[in-house]
Amino acid sequence: MKRKDEIKSAYKSLGKAHGFYDGMMMGTTLLGRMVMKTVWRMTQEDALEYRFRAFERIPAGFAGKLLEVPVGTGVLSLPVWKKMQKADITCLDYSDKMMDAAQARAKEMGISNITFCQGDVGALPFEDGMFDAVVSLNGFHAFPDKDKAYSETFRVLKEGGIFCGCFYAQGLNRHTDGYIRRFYVPMGFFTPPFETMDSLEMRLKGMYGEVAVSNVQSIAVFQCRKSKGR
Ligand SMILES: C[S@@+](CC[C@H](N)C(=O)[O-])C[C@H]1O[C@@H](n2cnc3c(N)ncnc32)[C@H](O)[C@@H]1O
Repeated sequence: MKRKDEIKSAYKSLGKAHGFYDGMMMGTTLLGRMVMKTVWRMTQEDALEYRFRAFERIPAGFAGKLLEVPVGTGVLSLPVWKKMQKADITCLDYSDKMMDAAQARAKEMGISNITFCQGDVGALPFEDGMFDAVVSLNGFHAFPDKDKAYSETFRVLKEGGIFCGCFYAQGLNRHTDGYIRRFYVPMGFFTPPFETMDSLEMRLKGMYGEVAVSNVQSIAVFQCRKSKGR
C-alpha cells in the first residue's frame, strides 16, 4: 500500500507538470531531449521507432473495443486514437492528475470515442474478455504488482485479442540502468523488479501466442495475441 501511495504522489506531481513530462516523452523540449539522450541514450528517431512498433499490431481502421492502461497524459497515444474514430476506447490510470491532462488533451483534439476511468491495473473494473485489444505504454516498469498487472490485462482481453506496448527493460544499457536505480526508483516513478528481455519473452510466451519482443535501446516492445484455450 505504501508503494502505491508513493507512486500516486510521484505521478500527481508529474501530472501537474505535464508540460515537462510530455517534452521528455516526445523530446520536444531542450530538457526533454537532454533526458532522452543522457538517461535513455535515445535520439528522437529511436523514440519514434519504439512508438511505431508498440502500436504496429493495431490496424489503422480498428473498430473494436480497446483498453489503454496506463494512459498517463495521453501524449503518446491520443494522436493514434484520434485516427481510430470507429473504435470504442477506454483509457485507465491510477493517477487522476495524469489523466486530467489526458482528458483535457482529448477534448482539445476533439476526440469523443474515449471513456476515461481512474483505477488500478491490478484490479481492473471490467468483465473477462471484454476487449479486442489491450495497449500498455511505459506502464509495467511503474506498476507495483506486476504479476497482477499481467494477469488482469490478460483476463480482460478476449480470445484472439492483441496485447501490445512497451516499457523499460533492465540489462540493455548499464548507464540507463544506473539512472533508473539512482533516480527513477527512489522518486517513485519506477518500481522494481524489472523485466529483462529474456524474462519478458519467457513470461509472455507462457501466456500468449504469436509473441514478438524487440527493443529500442532500453525500451522493450512487445506484441502478442491471446490464443484459444489460454
Ligand atoms: C511513465 S507513465 C506512462 C504513461 C503513458 N502511457 C506514457 O507512455 O506516457 C506511468 C503511469 O502509470 C500509472 N500507474 C502507476 N501504477 C498504476 C496502477 N497500479 N494502475 C494504473 N496506473 C498506474 C501512473 O499513474 C502513470 O500515469
